[in-house]
Amino acid sequence: MNTVILGLQWGDEGKGKLVALLARDHEIIVRFQGGANAGHTVFIEGQEHVFHLVPSGLHHPEKVGVLGPGVVVDLEVLAQEVEALSRMGRPLEGRLWIDARAHLVMPYHRAEDGWEEELRGGIGSTRRGIGPTYRDLYARFGLRAGDLLHPDTLYRKLKKSLEWNNQVLAARYGKPPFQIQDMMDLLTTWAERFRPMITDTLTLLREWDRRDRAILLEGAQGSLLDIFLGTYPYVTSSHTVVGGALAGLGLPPQRLHRIVGVTKAYTTRVGRGPFPTELHDETGQRLRELGGEYGATTGRPRRCGWLDLVALRYTAWLNGVTELAITKVDVLSGFPEIRVATAYRLKGAETRWFPATLEDLEQAEPVYEELPAWPTPLVDRNTLHPQLEAYLGFLEAHLGMPVRLVSYGPQTHEVVLRSPA
Ligand code: IMP
Repeated sequence: MNTVILGLQWGDEGKGKLVALLARDHEIIVRFQGGANAGHTVFIEGQEHVFHLVPSGLHHPEKVGVLGPGVVVDLEVLAQEVEALSRMGRPLEGRLWIDARAHLVMPYHRAEDGWEEELRGGIGSTRRGIGPTYRDLYARFGLRAGDLLHPDTLYRKLKKSLEWNNQVLAARYGKPPFQIQDMMDLLTTWAERFRPMITDTLTLLREWDRRDRAILLEGAQGSLLDIFLGTYPYVTSSHTVVGGALAGLGLPPQRLHRIVGVTKAYTTRVGRGPFPTELHDETGQRLRELGGEYGATTGRPRRCGWLDLVALRYTAWLNGVTELAITKVDVLSGFPEIRVATAYRLKGAETRWFPATLEDLEQAEPVYEELPAWPTPLVDRNTLHPQLEAYLGFLEAHLGMPVRLVSYGPQTHEVVLRSPA
């Protein structure tokens, strides 16, 4: 049974925590897109730990993992995470593989991402070099992990990549060039360090799948940040939807059995871009404080608002979600009332469909329904409060799919597995 976990909002839905839980039933845990822009928080022996690049499920010492062809790999970040996990008694040698096709984030990509934000305001990027790395990938002169295995051609490829990137740095930002020898030295160090991890992961995957070893695909960011289907241009540079999972790993569609869509009980977003249910008042502030809504990667305060069923209807459908997981229901406990947007008012009419253009999204006014809050998520160890049950039933009726997992706190055990009616 292969499972994918996807965020249905703008990221930060609490996927890390659910990965930690579902990883128990899967042997292999993979990332298929994005890079160190992600921030997946998990608890290891009671201690909070944030993963940016390593599949977060690998904190289970017996699990095997892959960074698939669609991931952009910052080997500097990876080296730090490998070391941190090693110190915690969870070495990754022999159980983490990097696909030879995965592209490398270079220091000049990071620099460009930073300057872009600095000078123009940008889109609120995490400045991890993700956008410039995918840009070079699409321009067909990116450096791939497999290039580290071919030092004879590496220099030639690096030269081409640097020619473009140094011009960008000089012309757009007036910055000095990166020196080819410095970059070559860095790549040589990385090659020595990571050679044993770099391989054609599709051969491994095919063999694992043939033996029915369960694979868990760990999505990063959220569907509304997808480069094609999200709120462009306020999006990330990769495919965060289910199609991205298949292409970014190299898995046939029939081999994906369970599609878990994760949403918070409310909505957040970091960075700029449209957000119809955003709250600029005390309620928004209260959600931020109670939910600890500060970026795991950048520390930025997250924008907060009510749950948006128009957005969820769109992302749950396009991902073919088979079950929903809802997180942070504890944050809404004790609110005097809860609101949920069920439609938008746009150009004098009501719509239940998520608009395609930024202009429409910026004008869309949410139409809310009010529901009673629950004083506490649980009435006993495994029974949800009836008002929380009613809220989940309301979501199920609107989205036409079951809510299976309900997370009511940061610790891995704070989840109720629900059997929908
Ligand atoms: P980038 O992915 O760093 O290029 O940033 C592009 C947009 O995606 C910005 O609005 C970021 O804040 C957002 N973003 C990137 N990664 C995450 C994430 O893991 N959670 C939430 N937002 C993210």
